[in-house]
Amino acid sequence: MINFAGRTAFVTGGANGIGIGLVRALLAEGCKVAMADIRQDAIDKALATLDNNEVMGVQVDVSSREGMAAAADAVEAKFGPVTLLFNNAGVNLFQTIEDSSYADWDWLMGVNLHGPINGCMTFVPRMIAHGQGGYVVNTASMAGWLAAGSPGIYNTTKFAVRGLSESLRYSLAQHKIGVSCVCPGLVKSYIYASDDIRPANLMDGAKPINTENVERLAGMHQVGMEPDVIAERILQGMRENQTYIFPMPDHKDELAEEFETVLGFYRDYPQDPGYEERVKIEGFRRQGYKAAREAAKTAV
Ligand SMILES: NC(=O)c1ccc[n+]([C@@H]2O[C@H](COP(=O)([O-])OP(=O)(O)OC[C@H]3O[C@@H](n4cnc5c(N)ncnc54)[C@H](O)[C@@H]3O)[C@@H](O)[C@H]2O)c1
Repeated sequence: MINFAGRTAFVTGGANGIGIGLVRALLAEGCKVAMADIRQDAIDKALATLDNNEVMGVQVDVSSREGMAAAADAVEAKFGPVTLLFNNAGVNLFQTIEDSSYADWDWLMGVNLHGPINGCMTFVPRMIAHGQGGYVVNTASMAGWLAAGSPGIYNTTKFAVRGLSESLRYSLAQHKIGVSCVCPGLVKSYIYASDDIRPANLMDGAKPINTENVERLAGMHQVGMEPDVIAERILQGMRENQTYIFPMPDHKDELAEEFETVLGFYRDYPQDPGYEERVKIEGFRRQGYKAAREAAKTAV
């Protein structure tokens, strides 16, 4: 089981919402924590509420490879090797794909997908080199399982974070590094204000801000799960080394229905030439995948 005390954690999007919940929970476990966020004002505000020497703020844009490397250097210089990584920063944009511009894609893919990729590419080789094991948690969403016409790009990024997380989980088991993918539903957070931090160079084709919709979202998020509650459940999921952490039961029935629907797309075709050989190859692959899944269960 992963032990938290004494480890250094790096939490992206750490100044608000789920991130600040994680920061508080990790400090309570005796970790040193880097609160990494693009909003310096939010970092300052959050740090003032914590009044704790074991936490430091680091301003970084997770979509920047150089920025993430510099942030990692700064944190490791102060707090030592990072062995707990939370790729949590994210932004949303509620619109369909056909209504979106390339700049919309670049912004969301940059933060929601390249953010976790950059986190992994920056910290995982360091974690392996330190040889102290560790843990990577990527925040996807229930929007990584359940898609709708809007938010198309957000859906795309969150489905991809699942792929990143699962693959990494099986390759890192040998290094005693656990990987979980968190899939929250509605959380009491500040994500409805994502437009405020959209970079000026990615404004091409951006729709005017729909204040009515932002206010509606702000109201919805008020009834979302408290950051401290979800953070505790994430840490519990890490202790259990779960592939997926579903911190709330809200979508379980819907997901079961969706899995049934997906299986319903299979058809009983007549056997085509090569079928027998293919099935043998798939059998070997399946055995290999099963062994990797088993190994990952006991890796940390
Ligand atoms: N709030 C929800 O209902 C909900 C549901 C499912 C998944 N999620 C996911 O949870 C994660 C956390 O979101 P939240 O809801 O706590 O939102 P939030 O807006 O309250 O917190 C996210 C933080 O990420 C920071 N951030 C945004 N872009 C950044 C960048 N480029 N570099 C560094 N930091 C950046 C923001 O400044 C903010 O402080 C996101 O990945 C989000 O997609 C949220």
